Amino acid sequence: MAFTFFFRDLPALHAIRDHVIPELRKNRYINAWDAGCAMGPEPYSLAIIFKEALGYYEFKRLKIYATDLDEESHEFGNIIAKGLYPEETVKRIPRDIFEKHFSANNKPGHFKIADEIMQCISFQKHDLRTLKPIRDDFGLIVCKNVLLHLQESERIDVIKMFHKSLAPGGFFVTEQTQKMPVTTARLFKQVISNVQLFRKV
Ligand SMILES: C[S@@+](CC[C@H](N)C(=O)[O-])C[C@H]1O[C@@H](n2cnc3c(N)ncnc32)[C@H](O)[C@@H]1O
Repeated sequence: MAFTFFFRDLPALHAIRDHVIPELRKNRYINAWDAGCAMGPEPYSLAIIFKEALGYYEFKRLKIYATDLDEESHEFGNIIAKGLYPEETVKRIPRDIFEKHFSANNKPGHFKIADEIMQCISFQKHDLRTLKPIRDDFGLIVCKNVLLHLQESERIDVIKMFHKSLAPGGFFVTEQTQKMPVTTARLFKQVISNVQLFRKV
């Protein structure tokens, strides 16, 4: 099973809240891509951050495309559609946020994410190495703890594909230990120094 949990990278989520959402909320539609989403805690954390920041009707304009190779058929799509997660994956969520967006479930030790959060996420199987973009108008692409699994040349090609998949001025976020390759650095401007958050130029 892929390793992931809710609110895994708080500095990145706060950077999205402070630097990305204020820009994207100006748009009519907000499309985001979570590439390499595993069982869903990352795209759901992203959805919660948007929900906390946006008004009721603004949040209705958000669509998160969650994709993963799901190589060993762990059925990530089914897990995401159920929205039911074991306690160890939710325990790092700030308490007030957890209480608003999760409820106890009949299954002992599991918590169910709120329907309104679930409605903005759809899952599809997708291998980044195909270099096939799933749309070309994303406001935000999140790809964390995935690129390290690729060869350097594949990583460069995937980042170029992300660049093409972003709308003008769109944002790309990766994990803190994943540095932007020199050959793709000219395609983006880093937004803040302590998070690998980039904006398409
Ligand atoms: C360690 S998990 C990271 C999950 C989540 N992004 C996070 O940071 O918590 C890595 C995920 O990348 C996915 N992955 C690896 N290679 C991929 C590829 N070529 N295309 C799409 N997903 C891939 C794996 O299936 C796995 O679910």
